[in-house]
Amino acid sequence: MKKEQFLEAMNFRHACKIFDETKKIPKEDLEFILETARLSPSSFGMEHWKFLVVQNQELKEKIRPFCWNQPQITTCSDLVIVLAKIEDVKPTNDYVKNMFNRRNLSQENLEKYLELYKNHLSETMSSDEKILEWSARQCYIALGNMMTGAASIGIDSCPIEGFERENIENLLNLDTKEYRLCVIVPFGYRVNPQSEKLRLSICDVVQYL
Ligand SMILES: Cc1cc2nc3c(=O)[nH]c(=O)nc-3n(C[C@H](O)[C@H](O)[C@H](O)COP(=O)(O)O)c2cc1C
Repeated sequence: MKKEQFLEAMNFRHACKIFDETKKIPKEDLEFILETARLSPSSFGMEHWKFLVVQNQELKEKIRPFCWNQPQITTCSDLVIVLAKIEDVKPTNDYVKNMFNRRNLSQENLEKYLELYKNHLSETMSSDEKILEWSARQCYIALGNMMTGAASIGIDSCPIEGFERENIENLLNLDTKEYRLCVIVPFGYRVNPQSEKLRLSICDVVQYL
């Protein structure tokens, strides 16, 4: 891919406020978007995420009031709810061991990794809220990749943090010891032209040392 094409996708992406309800994302395009999430990097390679895809209109209608009644929720083609892992990523959990074991480590190296993980993350692991913060940071990388990936094939999105976390978790019957709601991202096709891109200049945000 050329630099210009990538920047074109970055400029095409905007926080789309309303989607065309008559247009559905083809299955293979949705799968492409989800694949960009799956391939995203994560701290220690723990893949701290799960992606719920809501296509059912009734469920979208139930979610919308808990998302500040934002029209993106019900007008989109597919609503992706990003969950952050809590229980799995705790050092004592087999999940962590299995994720390291995928690398075919020797017993000695596996133990070293587990020790490093436990020590480095001791503060993070001190509460589920802190684990949520850590897992959420990884989920946002997947979020960014999905939105840019979608834009590269002409699909619009809008990151949504304007929601009532507990109400949505209850609605989805989430076991919040396992997963917490992290962020929501609807995908679809714009109805209105995108607004002007407002950004600080490069010299405002970059400093060479
Ligand atoms: C983590 C995050 C949460 C956001 N939550 C909302 C939201 O709930 N509703 C909304 O309309 N826009 C939301 N936005 C969109 C931002 O307002 C928008 O990205 C920003 O104003 C820049 O505009 P642009 O994305 O169109 O370039 C969110 C953006 C991010 C990154």
